[in-house]
Amino acid sequence: MAAETRQKAAVGVERETVAAVGRERKAVTAAGRERKTAAATETERNAVAATVQLRVKRQDGPGQPPYWETFAVPFRPGMNVISALLDIQRRPVNAGGEPVRAVAWESNCLEEVCGACSMRINGKARQACTALVDRLAQPIVLEPMGTFPVEKDLIVDRQRMFDGLLETEAWIPIDGTYALGAGPSISPRNQQEAYAYSTCMTCGVCMDACPNVSPASPYLGPYAMGQAHYFNLHPTGAMHKEARMDAVIGPGGVSGCGNSQNCVRSCPKGIPLTTAIARLNGAATKHALRRWLHG
Ligand code: SF4
Ligand code: FES
Repeated sequence: MAAETRQKAAVGVERETVAAVGRERKAVTAAGRERKTAAATETERNAVAATVQLRVKRQDGPGQPPYWETFAVPFRPGMNVISALLDIQRRPVNAGGEPVRAVAWESNCLEEVCGACSMRINGKARQACTALVDRLAQPIVLEPMGTFPVEKDLIVDRQRMFDGLLETEAWIPIDGTYALGAGPSISPRNQQEAYAYSTCMTCGVCMDACPNVSPASPYLGPYAMGQAHYFNLHPTGAMHKEARMDAVIGPGGVSGCGNSQNCVRSCPKGIPLTTAIARLNGAATKHALRRWLHG
């Protein structure tokens, strides 16, 4: 009887051991599956991170209707928006794998000096050459600046800005055919103030940010006011101050500024545009008074 009991107990232990081994195997298999799933998710994550998603507002030509297109290009450390656009140019295929017309954009210096690559990136106008991809939320949304007429895709016509410089006489006329001798010297104080305005690259970002600049408004824009003040500061430029101030008190001049301060906040060169506008406002009052008294 005792032997029978011992045999039953042994069978029980054996069964329990088999069940435990089964449970252990299941646990090992589940852990393996979990590891595999985690590895797959990691691979998927890396694949996503290794791709740059772009959403580009496109336009086939002036006056044509705009449309959106998405692209995916391989990520490389340190790449900027221009590198992503170059990838699209090399392989003009959209995210759906269809061949499309390569995206058109402008660039030149690639170091935020010429202003040619200005465009709206994730809703804000800035230079594409200094917009680093790994600091931008994806998909990266690229649009042409809204203030200017679109030529094609991300290229706009900034002629309006150069016309504004002509109107405010923002240059120093020189003849150049005979020696004029040394020009008047500039005080270190004026030189220091003028330097900031000399860095303007006519990029158009302040024009895009300003709510008072539009095709319907004659306002020449904050950059033109900055340049008018810059040339007033220069002793040679000041020789043409009267003609310049006529433009400043005209319909496209300082009275067009609504003091939103958007220009000074958006300028990539940190140019104190609102200071220039305030200085011009003071000079404009004096100039208007002189014109009224002396014609
Ligand atoms: S003032 Fe600044 S934002 Fe405006 S055009 Fe010049 S550099 Fe660009
Ligand atoms: S390419 Fe010149 S500012 Fe970007």
